[in-house]
Amino acid sequence: MTSQFFVGLSVALTIDVTNSSYTMQGHQQWIAEVQFLGVLEHPNLVKLLGYCATDGERGIQRLLVYEYMQNRSLEDHLFNKAVPVVPWRTRLKIILGAAQGMAYLHEGLEVQVIYRDFKSSNVLLDENFCARLSDFGLAREGPAGDRSHVSTAVRHALDFNSHGLIVNT
Ligand SMILES: Nc1ncnc2c1ncn2[C@@H]1O[C@H](COP(=O)(O)OP(=O)(O)OP(=O)(O)O)[C@@H](O)[C@H]1O
Ligand SMILES: [Mg+2]
Repeated sequence: MTSQFFVGLSVALTIDVTNSSYTMQGHQQWIAEVQFLGVLEHPNLVKLLGYCATDGERGIQRLLVYEYMQNRSLEDHLFNKAVPVVPWRTRLKIILGAAQGMAYLHEGLEVQVIYRDFKSSNVLLDENFCARLSDFGLAREGPAGDRSHVSTAVRHALDFNSHGLIVNT
């Protein structure tokens, strides 16, 4: 179960309560992943500011703290009628920014990171409508050395596509 909270003006919290079958090895892996993702810095990625985890009677509760994105997500601007329509020039800027964020993860780091949750709700928008990719929970290390494949399969279909952009003019 994952919940989002928006606190004050500058941070967003993701709280994740895992069930009791969650193993210590899995937990260590989660710690390693968030520590790695926490050091990533790019103008088109949402900064992971911090994390914590406690082991209580409800299982391991994990909390991630991200930068708060003032203009919420691209999904909100495409599909929520209560949110203003984004002009074409801004849409192009968003697409370019999202692509640059992906390119950085896939090719700009020493370790290749495959971002597997690319969808409009994970393309967040800062105060200048600059695209910032979020939710690296499904990110995976890509192939390295003579390992030519990644064992984990893509779980989410892409839903950030030209169709979504066109139907919401
Ligand atoms: N850091 C953030 N700042 C501001 N709004 C955010 C932030 N993170 C998420 N949101 C808002 O919360 C909405 C839901 O995001 P959330 O990540 O919980 O669900 P999702 O992206 O639909 O699914 P998933 O859990 O697969 O990522 C987004 O569409 C966006 O409006
Ligand atoms: Mg998300």
